[in-house]
Amino acid sequence: MAGSDWTLSAMREWESPDYEPSLPVSEKSNPLTRGIDRASASSIVRMLQACDAQMFQEETGAAYQRLLSEQVVTTLMEVAKKVELILKDPEDSLVILSGCGTSGRLAFLITSRFNRALRQLNHSPVYSYVIAGGDRALLSSQEAPEDDPKLGMLSLKKVCEGKKRVLFIGISCGLSAPFVAGQLEFCLQNPEVYTPVLVGFNPAHQARDEPLPGCTFTFRSVVQRMEELAKSQQAFLINPAVGPEAISGSSRMKGGSTTKILLEVVLSAAHAATFSHAPVTYNSILQHLRAYERTLDITYSQSEIITDLVEAAGESLRCGRRVCYLGWGSLALLSLIDASECNPTFGADYEDVRGFVSGGYRELSNKEGPLTSLGAEFCIAHEDFLHLVLPCLTDKDTVLLVYTHSDDVSKVVDLARRVREKTSNLHAVYHQADGDTSAAQQQDHINRLCLSTLKTAWLQGASVSASSLHMWELSTKLVLNAVSTGAHVLKGKIYQNYMIDVQVTNSKLYRRATRLLQKLSSQPESQCEEALLKAIYQVDELTLDITSSDVITHTCTAATRTKVVPLALVCLLTGCSLDEAESRLERQPIVREAVEALLS
Ligand code: F6P
Repeated sequence: MAGSDWTLSAMREWESPDYEPSLPVSEKSNPLTRGIDRASASSIVRMLQACDAQMFQEETGAAYQRLLSEQVVTTLMEVAKKVELILKDPEDSLVILSGCGTSGRLAFLITSRFNRALRQLNHSPVYSYVIAGGDRALLSSQEAPEDDPKLGMLSLKKVCEGKKRVLFIGISCGLSAPFVAGQLEFCLQNPEVYTPVLVGFNPAHQARDEPLPGCTFTFRSVVQRMEELAKSQQAFLINPAVGPEAISGSSRMKGGSTTKILLEVVLSAAHAATFSHAPVTYNSILQHLRAYERTLDITYSQSEIITDLVEAAGESLRCGRRVCYLGWGSLALLSLIDASECNPTFGADYEDVRGFVSGGYRELSNKEGPLTSLGAEFCIAHEDFLHLVLPCLTDKDTVLLVYTHSDDVSKVVDLARRVREKTSNLHAVYHQADGDTSAAQQQDHINRLCLSTLKTAWLQGASVSASSLHMWELSTKLVLNAVSTGAHVLKGKIYQNYMIDVQVTNSKLYRRATRLLQKLSSQPESQCEEALLKAIYQVDELTLDITSSDVITHTCTAATRTKVVPLALVCLLTGCSLDEAESRLERQPIVREAVEALLS
């Protein structure tokens, strides 16, 4: 069994009503990863495997509905049938997927894939995406727009102009993003056109209830109305609990994986019903979900090689060097997505972990087109890698080639050769259909050039179907999440299983930071918030101007600062000034060690 080092009760400890009762599941800390900050690379991978296995745990008792629960599978069927109706009569209709951060990036990935499938069948696209902050958020962290419900409404309205029927799928792992709440509210106000679907991973009563500036609704009140409407299939809630994230609140991990699974299952079922006369059934949905569960097992069956990758990437980050993903085709976008989350999650620089895509923006095919004019961070083509990064690569940098045998493997060989001239720290992560020998020779070359090779051969025979690509993508996501998370853990960016150096760039992260300070300093909330504000505004005394500003103003200022949470913590624990806290952190740049020294 996946995560066999853990007993069933450890795997389920978070479900107890006494376990961190004030927090929603998506914000709880996972008991399985309490010691991840001191773990070896192989233990980190085992912990991540056990956490991921929680996605597919069966429901016990009534506490939480799970991915495989009857209610969830039934709702997936119902939503698939709604999509089927649109596919059969697409005139003036749209299916919109929307979210913030990774949720929005996955909305983009999934809509691109399924529109491509429609084009291959000579059908017009019916899917569209909305991401808070626009296309730049596909590649970089843009947390502030997540707080804006009106912006959510407006951007939804804009994409749907002139449409008579819209199935809106809002994704918010924590049932928390005001941007998505605004969109759902807009759907509820316009039921003649919009049917809202919410995807997230907390029970409805744990939806965020914080007042939204200028609005009469909260996320929770929207969810409550949707629950009522769900009884008559006028709204849908898909919200299984998948357990707390390995790194507390890091919803890019299980939250993102489950989002991908759920939406692919729904859209694939609708496509099969429309184009292959395979009706949407309970069993077909369940079987499809089970196939993803097997993907987890297949992926982690190679944990030794994943461990090598984590080690290599961790070593690079530890000595201030970088990790680069060079991706091709379908998997390249997963590399970009993984890299883009390292900044808000770990306070990393965009150069620390970076993704590059063969074909650049042509392959991405995003609504706003090339974004290179926005700066180096947005240069994502392999050519950009060759100009900007390759010249300064050394053996201390880690490079991962990420591809499948359906891509042009000769191009992978070419690039591998060029990278190999600069660094031996080159690794390959690739997928192929079992029995496909078409690229065997080129693969031999690559194997010789690489230090390690993570090969997954999938059993479906030589032909590659859309659904196998979905599995390969998930598998790649799990591996890259493990690499980037594991590497940052090894770099000392995590304390216990908390992101101590988190960016405080929106209200959710502001609340999370305050809670973390409370937990680690055992000081009252008001004092912790004060310390946080002092670190954000870089003052030892708070002015009236500061205390009378709202959270949005605080988070805008915080976006221009670094290490605010570690600084606030040092001040809280020692009572020292900010200057002193700063020099302490300079002397001990490994955040985990600085915190540990203070706490002992
Ligand atoms: O605020 C940033 C962030 O936490 C991202 O890391 C995450 O991908 C995004 O919010 C979305 O969160 P949710 O899906 O819970 O709305």
